[in-house]
Order: sequence, then C-alpha cells, then structure tokens
Amino acid sequence: MADELKRGLEGVLVAESDLSYVDGEVGKLVYRGYDIEDLARGASYEEVLYLLWHGSLPTAAELDAFTADLVAERDVDDDVIETVRALADAGERPMAALRTATSMLSAYDPDDGDSEETTLTQGRRITAKIPTVLAAFERVRQGNEPVAPDPDLSHAGNFLYMLTGTEPDPVSEETFDMALTLHADHGLNASTFTAMVIGSTMADVYSGVTGGIGALSGPLHGGANQDVMEVLHEIDASSKDPVQWVKDTRDDGGRIPGFGHRVYKVKDPRAKILEEKLRDLSESSGDTKWLDYTTAIEEHLTDQGLVEKGIAPNVDFYSGSVYDSLGIPVDMYTPIFAMSRAGGWIAHVAEYQEDNRLIRPRARYTGPENAEFVPIDER
Ligand code: CMC
Repeated sequence: MADELKRGLEGVLVAESDLSYVDGEVGKLVYRGYDIEDLARGASYEEVLYLLWHGSLPTAAELDAFTADLVAERDVDDDVIETVRALADAGERPMAALRTATSMLSAYDPDDGDSEETTLTQGRRITAKIPTVLAAFERVRQGNEPVAPDPDLSHAGNFLYMLTGTEPDPVSEETFDMALTLHADHGLNASTFTAMVIGSTMADVYSGVTGGIGALSGPLHGGANQDVMEVLHEIDASSKDPVQWVKDTRDDGGRIPGFGHRVYKVKDPRAKILEEKLRDLSESSGDTKWLDYTTAIEEHLTDQGLVEKGIAPNVDFYSGSVYDSLGIPVDMYTPIFAMSRAGGWIAHVAEYQEDNRLIRPRARYTGPENAEFVPIDER
C-alpha cells in the first residue's frame, strides 16, 4: 500500500547496506557478517574501522598502515582548540561542543569533492580528531591544559591518556576499546540515517557527522546512557531501593532509561557483553554498587513481564556503569558514543553515495485547504 503511513519510519526499507545487520528477535548484531561478540572480544576498534570502511578485516600490514594514517591525523588546529576552550568556559554541554567543533574542523581540511575516496579521507581525519577535541574540552572544563595525542597509543588508549594525562592500564584500555567496537555501527539508527540523508544531498562528510552528533544527543537515542547513570546516582544519593525507584517512575508514567529498543525485542547483545564487563570490573575492584542496582532493576522488570513484552535492557543500560568504573564523567558518555559511531556514520555515507539517490520522503498533508489569503493590514 503506497499510502500506508509508517510513523517513525518503523520497518521501512530505504537502502541496501553491507555494513551491519541487527536481528531484533534473537538479539544478534553483525558487522559485515562478523558477530559483534567475536569483534568485541577479538578485534581492536581500528580493525573494526578498517572492516567498515574497506570491506574486510585487515592483515597485520594493512592494519599498521591504516593505524599510522589515523594517528597522523590526531592533531587539531589551534583555532579549533581555542573554540573548544571558549565553549568549555561558556559552560556548553559536551555534545553541543563536539557538534560545533566537528563542524569547524572542515575549515582546516585541505580536500574538497564528493568522491568516495574524499569521504573516507575526510572521515579518517574526523575520526582521528574527535577524541582530541573531546579530551581537550574535558581538560579545560576541569581547569587543566589539553594533553597532546601520543602516537604510540591506540585510539582507545590515547583518548584515555589525553583525558587524564596518565597512560591507562591495560584493563581500562581494553575495556574502552571494546566499548568503542560495540558502538561503532547499528544499522539505520536515527543518527546514521540523519548522516545518510545529509550525505544523499552529496554534502560533505563533515556535514553528515555534524548532523549525526545532533541526532545522537537526544535522550531517546545516545543520550540514554547518561540518563541511566544519573538515575543510578539519584538512587544512591536518596538511599532509595532501586526497585522502589522503578515502581515510582512507572507509576508516574515515566520510562526506564536503558530499556526498550525499536529493533531489539530481547536483550541487546551489546548489553550482555557490557554487563559481563561490568561484573568483571566490579568484582576486581570490590565495588559492586552499580552492578547491584542495575541487576535489581533488570530482575524487577523481568518479574513484571516488561522484558518478555520486548522492553529489555539496551546497550545504554550498562555502558554508563562501565564508563564510570573507568573514571569518565557522566556527561562525556554520549560524546564517547559519538566518537565511536562516527566510524559507522562515515561508512554509511560513503556506501550510500556510491550509488546515490537523494533521500526525499513525503508527509500526508492534513492541513487546511483553500484558505483565503488576507493581507497583513486586514488581519
Ligand atoms: N520504559 C517503560 N516503557 C517503555 C520503555 C521504557 N524504557 N520503552 C518503551 N516503553 C513502552 C512505551 O511506553 C510504549 O508502551 P504503550 O504501547 O503502552 O504506550 C511501548 O513500550 C512502545 O514504545 P515506543 O516509544 O512506541 O517504542 P519505540 O520503538 O518508538 O521506542 C525507544 C524505542 C528506545 C525510544 C524507547 O524504548 C525508549 O524511550 N527507551 C528509553 C530510552 C533509551 O533507553 N534509549 C536508548 C535506545 S538504545 C541506544 C540507541 O540506539 O541509541
């Protein structure tokens, strides 16, 4: 039925893609055929970027060359750092600062044009520079000077280093790298579709990534990881039983952040991996508070039949607690999601532009007809 209205574009097929596949019925996510669990446990974020951008997992030599190219792009022009400084001083939110800075990065990009090669070259620059921008913002906000990137560290390790000024321990680096891999791509989610719509006009990839950041910032999308952590802190500060908090929230008609998903009808596979990671980190540190709260909430909602109805934990339910155990401030969680998802946005823009058709849906018009125009001085 051509005229069937699909609110929220639910289930509407708009493109073909080789990049990632989500089976929401069984809780499966693959990137180019590889199960997310294998990639999260066995591949670095750099390998995953290569896979998404170039179609196959790299050999050791290909990865070395790819990593060197990425590392070479980490420095950010002083003007951008000055803008980041001004935004931090003005109290701007990190996602908004990242959106502004990403847009500004294009001013210093020497390339122009709309070939797939340009998209991937510029995409590599954006991906390499986002961690530098974010870490600088956080450092300035804390009254510290930005830390220059360390070319000897991985994408994940270098970000944690620039954030704290200290080289991360292997467990933190590995955990963070895993989180980046888990968030890198996820079919045509709202932010990826935003980037694709922008890309379909043949606008440059800076525009696509900037738009993606804007879409990701909302609480129904990437903003939920921050909301989950704020809830856990609220529960902790009020000494409320987590189950009571859930009951009160539901009685008030509120939603539980970190639960529910447009595609998954069972527990998100990324949430399972992060839950396991949280369990390991909590047990090795001896601090199981966030694990206890999240487990209590999940058990309660399972008992209440919510999970069976398809409103199950999504990736955001556990990512915040994992980031907290790495010492990352709450409002940096969504920017970190953006730092990872930029890889997916760029891959989708490049893929779509290869066989581009302008994305231009329509709305069913429900406004008035034949309205009689009255000049302004007669209204
Ligand atoms: N808590 C309680 N009830 C919920 C929740 C929730 N978190 N999520 C959905 N529902 C209920 C909703 O009230 C509605 O019930 P009813 O049919 O009785 O009105 C039903 O489930 C369907 O909800 P919907 O809003 O039509 O479903 P959607 O597919 O449009 O929404 C969602 C998906 C993610 C926006 C929604 O589940 C939600 O708001 N979750 C909380 C925010 C969140 O965790 N977002 C992160 C998503 S995963 C990461 C990412 O991809 O960005």
